Amino acid sequence: MALIFIIVSGYLLGSISFSYIIAKKIKKVDIRQHGSGNAGATNTLRVLGVGPAVAVLALDIVKGIAAVWLGILLAPDQSGLFPALAGLAAILGHNWPVYYGFRGGKGVATTIGVLATLVFFPALFAGLLAIASIFITRFVSLGSLLFTVLTPVLTYVLIHTYDYPILYVYLTVIVAILSLWRHRTNLARLINGTESKLGKKA
Ligand code: G3P
Repeated sequence: MALIFIIVSGYLLGSISFSYIIAKKIKKVDIRQHGSGNAGATNTLRVLGVGPAVAVLALDIVKGIAAVWLGILLAPDQSGLFPALAGLAAILGHNWPVYYGFRGGKGVATTIGVLATLVFFPALFAGLLAIASIFITRFVSLGSLLFTVLTPVLTYVLIHTYDYPILYVYLTVIVAILSLWRHRTNLARLINGTESKLGKKA
């Protein structure tokens, strides 16, 4: 029962789309009809500018953290099952939100919150590499994918150092696959050279 509760709560929490809410509030537009069409911080930056984008990024990260903490607080054991499923549910909610016709974002900011809470150091190292790649290439999507793909690798490498449950490796792999799927159009654009760079207005 408790497990179902944290999965549903995580999903409902993740379903709150801050880019949708903030774009509606500030510009009275549906963020999904502008820029890349993605309900996320990067597209908020394109469509609304730095301030709203930072707010969306922070709030989407916080909802990932909150979902995982709900799982941690209600977990009956140390297996990591509750926090992992709560975090995964939040990411699924962000990507396919029940409140907005199941059309959401790509889950990166929520994933940052989830992974930074569960596997802090792998997420930190992967995050620093991702930020460096964004500065160098100006492709946020490439940085996002580097982050989500490198975190499982580093979690596996550091599993004994930080005593992570093996479940966290499985979770990070699932999250990476999910992220690759959500970024498939970005990947195609990166390959054919048409991906938009950071700093370009919508
Ligand atoms: O977090 C989403 C980012 O990786 C790509 O967003 O709007 O460029 O498709 P966008």
